[in-house]
Amino acid sequence: MSSTTSPASTAAGPSGGARLVVRNLRKVYTGRGEPVEAIADLTFEIRPGELVCVVGPSGAGKTTLLRCVAGLMPATSGELVLGGSAITGPPQGMAVVLQEYGRSLFPWLTVAENVELPLKEKGVGKARRAELVGETLAAVGLGDVTGSYPWQLSGGMQQRVAIARAAAYEPQVLLMDEPFAAVDAQTRFELEDLVRTLWKRLGITVVFVTHDIDEAIYLGERVLVLSARPTVVLEDVVVGLGAERDQLETRGHAEFARLRTHVYELVQQAKAGVRSLADAHLTHPGAAT
Ligand SMILES: Nc1ncnc2c1ncn2[C@@H]1O[C@H](COP(=O)(O)OP(=O)(O)O)[C@@H](O)[C@H]1O
Ligand SMILES: [Mg+2]
Repeated sequence: MSSTTSPASTAAGPSGGARLVVRNLRKVYTGRGEPVEAIADLTFEIRPGELVCVVGPSGAGKTTLLRCVAGLMPATSGELVLGGSAITGPPQGMAVVLQEYGRSLFPWLTVAENVELPLKEKGVGKARRAELVGETLAAVGLGDVTGSYPWQLSGGMQQRVAIARAAAYEPQVLLMDEPFAAVDAQTRFELEDLVRTLWKRLGITVVFVTHDIDEAIYLGERVLVLSARPTVVLEDVVVGLGAERDQLETRGHAEFARLRTHVYELVQQAKAGVRSLADAHLTHPGAAT
């Protein structure tokens, strides 16, 4: 299936993206018991308007990374810079779609009110709010349940509400943490295409965490493969699949298969404790970069 909105010619839409710089990020959880070094040393950069996926073994620190970037908790050391400013708290113009979307919606507000709330906080006028809420809920296929409450919807529908809320906000940066883990395969494909459509329309910077290798390659311009904890970047894989993606065509492409094999092997190596490419044993070596 392909996207339904008109394609943007460049990745510079109305809101525009911001550059994200992560330099020598380290995160150690301290509290009761032994300290946990979740992230050892992460350095990477995401250009304004780029869509980058992050994959890695479970427990690799993907959620930790997003929480630090979202300003929800401080790094132990290192630099986090968004659009030229150090991240010290939740940055303006950032929207986050978390793993546990059910908990992120307010049960006492309708679907439309949930989407509208952050727009009120942003100071968007009433007429424009109604427009944005209507448009984005229609775009996620929920135009006919705007008056329902979240608990009346399926998991996949609730996740669409969370995505509509993030889209309506017209962020400069969108962070997503395994957002489709709990939806069925068909819905998942539709939501993936929706993310790419939004990304192209708004020209936003997107960081998308997933444990699904195929999803990472289908969505991303690049895939950052993380090692196991304490985490470093194992490889920054360039996805040369072009701007136009199609669920059937792109996934059937020889380059897609090659990338999938390569990233799969990297993740297996990461699980086995490999922390640098030099130490990785790859039977299908080399992403063409
Ligand atoms: N609040 C916390 N306190 C202590 N350890 C934590 C906390 N949150 C996560 N961790 C640990 O940090 C590591 C990375 O976790 P997480 O970022 O959730 O990984 P991922 O999202 O890649 O599965 C794991 O070992 C996890 O147990
Ligand atoms: Mg996680």
